[in-house]
Amino acid sequence: MHLQRRMPQKSLKTAECESGMKTVYYTLTGGNEDAEAIRLGGNILREGGLVAFPTETVYGLGASALSVDAASKIYEAKGRPSDNPLIVHVAAPEEAETFAYTSDTYYRIAEKFMPGPITVILPKRDVVPTAVTGGLNTVAVRCPVNETARGLIREAGVPIAAPSANRSGKPSPTSGEHVKRDMDGRVDMIIDGGECAIGVESTVVTLDGENCRILRPGAVTEDMLAEVCTFVEIDPAVADVTAVGDNPSSPGMKYRHYAPAAKVMLIESDTEEQFISYVNENGTAGDGVFASAENKIRFKPEIEPLETGEKGTFNELNHNLYRLLRLADDKCLKRIYIRRPPKRGEFLALFNRLIRAASGEVIKL
Ligand code: TXA
Ligand code: MG
Repeated sequence: MHLQRRMPQKSLKTAECESGMKTVYYTLTGGNEDAEAIRLGGNILREGGLVAFPTETVYGLGASALSVDAASKIYEAKGRPSDNPLIVHVAAPEEAETFAYTSDTYYRIAEKFMPGPITVILPKRDVVPTAVTGGLNTVAVRCPVNETARGLIREAGVPIAAPSANRSGKPSPTSGEHVKRDMDGRVDMIIDGGECAIGVESTVVTLDGENCRILRPGAVTEDMLAEVCTFVEIDPAVADVTAVGDNPSSPGMKYRHYAPAAKVMLIESDTEEQFISYVNENGTAGDGVFASAENKIRFKPEIEPLETGEKGTFNELNHNLYRLLRLADDKCLKRIYIRRPPKRGEFLALFNRLIRAASGEVIKL
């Protein structure tokens, strides 16, 4: 392996610098050389550069959370509005003490679900620049379970601000290849750790005493949180895009996220049969459909099946969602038919992403 030790670029202007920056791309092998790559990534982060890395949810685009310059590079590389705050990643839950005001409820959540796919919003200490928190006086804390992610944070020796490593408005990346397509030439290093295990972003919660409120649903569900919090509330904007006001609890709610270029046709039906008939009656060449391996032969041949897995379980759907939305764009599909998942339990994360991708429109059969 030849990993050149380089100083990170001073600034990442948008388009004109795209070709100017050389991105080190490293694919993890499971061998000894991985440690060298993670050390290099840690050094780049410590010196204020950008490193994209795998987590169990989606790939993150990391930079030092204590540096205004580093954080502003993230916004430039992503083309992200600067009022949308970043999640700060730590290698262990107690590391949040250095930059946030923790609480008993935070530690109850941490004990049960960290490291893992949960993000907790806490009051911030002065050391975190408001450039990282989109001007808010709170900070989002997450401790990923992915070993590479935590190894990198440990090597960096500073908390790491990391949004999803996609260009703003594109689906989150769930493979190194997705990151490369969005970020090559815009970041110092990309660490490719294969496909993300979960595939949708972490559950985001705010705390109020012993209670919590879900701002973004993920793999840690309402029922799971109820084991450690007295009341668990779900923000109305989770399931209803029209409930996002001018001043939402989570600024990310107000942006049109997770959207492919194709129009997402979200169909609510009592049965699978109804959904299949509707698609066969209304779909035309150039349309695609989310279909399990079992069901795909039931759609007429001119409709492109986008395979959600063997049976289309919520785990398979979560895992494949963003890959399929990107694939739909690669195939230049006009419309993608998707059966609306239930608005509850482990399906809520999927529901939340799809309702946004469909701009809130659902066709009821
Ligand atoms: O799984 C994940 O959480 C991934 C991986 C990379 O860790 N990260 C991620 O980051 O999804 P991002 O930036 O794409 O989404 C962060 C969400 C946004 O909706 C943002 O508005 C919200 O968290 N958020 C961050 N800080 C917040 C704060 N202080 N108050 C309210 N919402 C906050
Ligand atoms: Mg994102």
